[in-house]
Amino acid sequence: MTGESLPPAAQIADAPWWRSAVIYQIWPQSFADADGDGTGDLPGITARLGYLAGLGVGAIWLSSFYRSPRADAGYNVADYRQIDPAFGTLEDLDDLLTGARRLGLRVMIDLVPNHTSDQHTWFRQALASQPGSAERARYLFLDGKGDDGSVIPNNWISDFGGPAWTRLTNADGTTDQWYLHSFAPQQPDLNWQNPEVREEFSSILRFWLDRGVDGFRVDVAHGLVKEEGLPDWDGVSGVPDSLRGTDVAHGVFKNFGQMWDQDGVHEIYRNWRKVLDSYPGDRAMVAEAWVPDHDRLARYIRSDEFHHAFNFDFLATYWNAESLRDVITRSLRAAAAVGAPATWVLSNHDVVRHASRLGLPSPGGSPPGISAADPQPDEDLGLRRARAATMLILALPGSAYLWQGEELGLPEHTTLDNTLRQDPIFFRTNGAEAGRDGCRIPLPWQSATPAFGFSETGRTWLPQPPSYRQYTADVQLRDPSSTLQMYRAALGLRRQRQLGLGSLTWLDLGQDVVAFVNSYITVVVNLGSSTLTLPGGQVLMASLPGAVTGSRLAPDTAVWLAS
Ligand code: GLC
Repeated sequence: MTGESLPPAAQIADAPWWRSAVIYQIWPQSFADADGDGTGDLPGITARLGYLAGLGVGAIWLSSFYRSPRADAGYNVADYRQIDPAFGTLEDLDDLLTGARRLGLRVMIDLVPNHTSDQHTWFRQALASQPGSAERARYLFLDGKGDDGSVIPNNWISDFGGPAWTRLTNADGTTDQWYLHSFAPQQPDLNWQNPEVREEFSSILRFWLDRGVDGFRVDVAHGLVKEEGLPDWDGVSGVPDSLRGTDVAHGVFKNFGQMWDQDGVHEIYRNWRKVLDSYPGDRAMVAEAWVPDHDRLARYIRSDEFHHAFNFDFLATYWNAESLRDVITRSLRAAAAVGAPATWVLSNHDVVRHASRLGLPSPGGSPPGISAADPQPDEDLGLRRARAATMLILALPGSAYLWQGEELGLPEHTTLDNTLRQDPIFFRTNGAEAGRDGCRIPLPWQSATPAFGFSETGRTWLPQPPSYRQYTADVQLRDPSSTLQMYRAALGLRRQRQLGLGSLTWLDLGQDVVAFVNSYITVVVNLGSSTLTLPGGQVLMASLPGAVTGSRLAPDTAVWLAS
């Protein structure tokens, strides 16, 4: 790969913000609690916008804040035009938007179009209506198979475990139709073949764009359209050749050919793009699309669809130099082929925090949570690698997403008491998978106050592990060698050198090394077990104090050099 240059994603002049943006994901429940009830809220976020501007990100993305019975955090939405009272009001959002604008921060919000809550007015109306009615036609209801309709309509599996269909029972005890839920039963899938559903979501987009949001993160963007006739999953289509017939295929790629990533989804996003483009100010949208390869993903970021699509293939790549070089090359090529920026991400609300993932005995991959019974990560090794991984993604051309708390080097809460868990994944797998609560723990702000400054009353909706004391933001702001200061420095340099708009030329420094030049900065990440000799160039910054000794770079560290 030596010397190979990959094409820049775009010409730099007048590049819109999203081509190189670093976007910080906020979990409203766990960011900061202003009213002391133990649940984070919008005023808590507004009060901390200065911290985010100081960190140096360009935008924030608020995870679902809609009115929701919270069967899957906020991802079962009961009203798409209301804020959940636990988080505040529409006026609180207006204040947040005003405060963000004043600091030059853009604000993206979540949109959850694949399914509603079972408490949404539409679903209640559907339950009260007859099979074949217009009310039922907004969802995916089917008669069961067999003489009495008791046989499930098809073999699709819910992403959270168990069958993807639930049969209705009427008040008088008689049975009724089945409805599809790709996730929990409280999350019925909408029927996107129904024009009424399409119109409603265009109107929802406009509602929030009118209010001033800068764009949307679209939940389950690969799921809206299903194969016509809802046939059984054949166990093969959509699964990469190398995984056919394996357990991995039946885990990660279950239902692929029939339920996910159908070509019909793209027409929906082309229409949404027209809606966004009809507003001033470069509004943008990012796809959460779990698809089998980079070329399929690139289809979502064609010039008339999404602006970004999360690169989960990169997120799930092992801490291995060859695999990383390979996935970076494939990502940049696929994005450039459609004229879009690549989008890098290491952590979010659905995966184990990368500071813990990279410290697991078998690092990488995407374990579905960690419980006290599982092998525990090596916290020091994980953080060391996490800092190096962050310096890698922040030096890559394209845009990057950060997950709240990763700038503090926060580990996953891996010993959360099972009785406190809330994630439906834990319940629907009967505890076989710990689920995602461990990455959603309230943030630690101050070392010497109750709940580490998350909430003045000391209340927290989930407990923080005692180890969070050493990760608090106030302690790290005073420590020049902290993870937080490393993020601030890297984000500053990235912006100053316009790394996000640059292009990448690989360097060959050995098998266990990821090394490249971008915009006159040489980036070297040492994934091997011994130190390596650096090429010449002044050290601009390193991932850890002591990472560079003379001209040697320590294992599991990264450095940026002036080239
Ligand atoms: C997406 C969200 C996840 C949620 C699921 C169902 O994958 O990121 O948190 O559980 O959709 O809405």
